[in-house]
Amino acid sequence: MKFEITPGVDWVGKIDWELRKFHGEEYSTHRGSSYNAYLVRDEKTALIDTVWSPFAKEFVNNLDKEIDLNQIDYVIANHAEMDHSGALPFLMHRIPDKPVYCTANGLKSLKGHYHKDWNFQVVKTGDKLSLGKKELIFVEAMMLHWPDSMMEYLTGDAILFSNDAFGQHIATEHMFNDLVDQSELFEEATKYYANILTPFSPLVTKKINEVVAFNLPVNFICPSHGVIWRDNPLQIAQKYLQWAADYQENQISIIYDTMWDGTRMLAEHIARGIKQADDKVTVKLFNISRRDINDVVTEVFKSKAILLGSPTINKGILNAMSALIEMITGLKFKKKKAAAFGCYGWSGESVKILTDHLSKAGFEMIGDGFKAMWQPGDEALAQALAFGKDFAGKV
Ligand code: FEO
Repeated sequence: MKFEITPGVDWVGKIDWELRKFHGEEYSTHRGSSYNAYLVRDEKTALIDTVWSPFAKEFVNNLDKEIDLNQIDYVIANHAEMDHSGALPFLMHRIPDKPVYCTANGLKSLKGHYHKDWNFQVVKTGDKLSLGKKELIFVEAMMLHWPDSMMEYLTGDAILFSNDAFGQHIATEHMFNDLVDQSELFEEATKYYANILTPFSPLVTKKINEVVAFNLPVNFICPSHGVIWRDNPLQIAQKYLQWAADYQENQISIIYDTMWDGTRMLAEHIARGIKQADDKVTVKLFNISRRDINDVVTEVFKSKAILLGSPTINKGILNAMSALIEMITGLKFKKKKAAAFGCYGWSGESVKILTDHLSKAGFEMIGDGFKAMWQPGDEALAQALAFGKDFAGKV
């Protein structure tokens, strides 16, 4: 499959309808994904990125039907992660002498992945590659989201090939932003930002401002996953600037795990207390062991405050909660408030453990948390409700 973006520029990637887990098991892709590669034809021809290795043969065979591979003059490798570089070995086997353009870090990561001495050409921000009437201008995008990441701008057609930035994990036959369901598009774009780009937010702001300062027109933003932004393409850059500015909505998320429903009952009463104190705030409850962890992380991203709850087991916390804590610690959320709660029978360490983890993860803690011994009765549930009210008043 291929389709035209504008005359001389074609999408030649792979739509992966079946993908449900990405990065191993790290990222859920409920709507599949696509690996976007682009063929730019002028007097010279450039191929921008490839696809994930399981589709390498299919990709190169399709490309071979579209163009004599020997007519590809330049191969651009924006990023060595295998969802984009995975077909390079198969492709370069066919055209071994063609130059491969990448950043200095890309040289290291591509060699580190494939152990090949292809004809690498290292580029940096501002370097230009003439294709004839148009040229590609390279922009290094270090840590967006790997040290090797790179984008390029195609003059004439005014296209920004942004690699992972501005992507979304969506499989669709409608590969332009104006043709898909907008709520699905922004749900996936938000999830992508929350789960992948949050720790790099200061760099996101810096890089977008740097690109905007070039004052170049942008007709299309072509990311390496999901749909191409052609209708008001800069809307996604504006969204990124909002998301990078320690984004939050008027939402409190209560995330818990429970063994015999005691901690669930606390969660529900805390939620009731919050709503009694503030009927405008959105309160959402998530049982982390029954929910998709990446979707919950997205809700944390949207929240101004979170409450984590776990009963105590073996002087610790339940393991689904441990996985969430590991993830939100790595994502380095900022300017969010938090507290912990949970039931216990004997020793009751869980609330302190959660509080310590949240504090180390950069959350501003509101108090020492709330814990209830044994199965919560009327008194403990009333206290949980009061705890929720108090929390709402402090966030
Ligand atoms: Fe889509 Fe960082 O690879």
